Amino acid sequence: MKTYENHSLLPYNTFGIDVDASYLVEYDSEEELVQLLQLDLLRENKFLHIGGGSNLLFIGNYQGVILHSHIMGIEVKKTTETDVFVKVGAGVVWDDFVAYCVAKNYGGVENLSLIPGEVGATPIQNIGAYGVEVKDVIYKVECIEVETGQKRIFTNPECQFAYRNSIFKHQLKGKYIVTAVWYKLSRNPQLNVNYGSLSDEIKKYPEITLQSVRNAVISIRQRKLPEPKVLGNAGSFFLNPVVDKAHFEQLQQQYPNMPFYAQDDNKVKIPAGWLIEQCGWKGKSVGKVAVHGSQALVLINKGGANGLDIINLSDSIRASVREKFQIELTPEVNLIFG
Ligand code: EPU
Repeated sequence: MKTYENHSLLPYNTFGIDVDASYLVEYDSEEELVQLLQLDLLRENKFLHIGGGSNLLFIGNYQGVILHSHIMGIEVKKTTETDVFVKVGAGVVWDDFVAYCVAKNYGGVENLSLIPGEVGATPIQNIGAYGVEVKDVIYKVECIEVETGQKRIFTNPECQFAYRNSIFKHQLKGKYIVTAVWYKLSRNPQLNVNYGSLSDEIKKYPEITLQSVRNAVISIRQRKLPEPKVLGNAGSFFLNPVVDKAHFEQLQQQYPNMPFYAQDDNKVKIPAGWLIEQCGWKGKSVGKVAVHGSQALVLINKGGANGLDIINLSDSIRASVREKFQIELTPEVNLIFG
């Protein structure tokens, strides 16, 4: 376990925001986490557990303890004729795990290639891309309860997964820390290349295999999404909004080319990137921040921006979309106020 005082969070957030935390603690095992939770440091200060820092925006210095897991390890626990059950430590880099699965010919996560972040965060926000969500392959989630230090295992249904959501983001927010995730992968992969841009990209490959799907997803992401080490960003800044069918139909009359995804319950999801582009924001710069030129859903730090610069840009975009489409955009990124 390592504890640092007044530590810069610059290497710990992909937006590249230069703020400090009063304390930063990194731990290496479940046992260390349980010990840590009993210390006065954690009892007397507020704390925030981070993963790869790829889905958060620090608005100011963090006056508390930032916790970060270094629980590593990828372990095959059980193999059946059709499936393999793999336990992965919360601190493992997500894409290292995807690369491992593809190399071993375990199917299910290839569409989620190159998503930044660490394994422990994947169930929290139910990461998703190109027609797949991680809930499709999560078997169970191992956690430690913050209050008691007790271990608890959540089955997939208990996690209450939804679009970029789970029980860990609402009822149980801040109450449990994920230490490991068990994934159920397929030994006879059914490849899913139906998502619009992926179905086009995969045509460039002679065969559809786990590796070619991974390569195709990586190509699309590298084309559309900025590399955080070069241009600070946190992927999609907003959620794709879900509106009532009546509202959607009224908009569709005015904008017949509007892309959309029909949902189950008389609702329709509309890509926020399209709405933002229609408002003229794509590629626009405001001081040290900008809307990415290849994907309007991504806000970027051109260098030296602070959290408020990003929030101001986000507020202006939200106002434009509200005025033009009567739709309220919600940030997908977690905003951390000091
Ligand atoms: N579009 C535009 N202009 C833009 C961006 C998108 O018109 O600037 C249109 C596209 O032409 C397409 C539609 O919007 O018709 C959807 O675009 P895209 O496939 O790029 O996906 P998205 O809905 O913008 C979501 C996820 C991404 C994920 C992609 C691919 C959310 C909030 N975002 O974006 O996830 O990679 O689908 O599956 O659901 C993330 O969560 O950080 C993330 C990058």
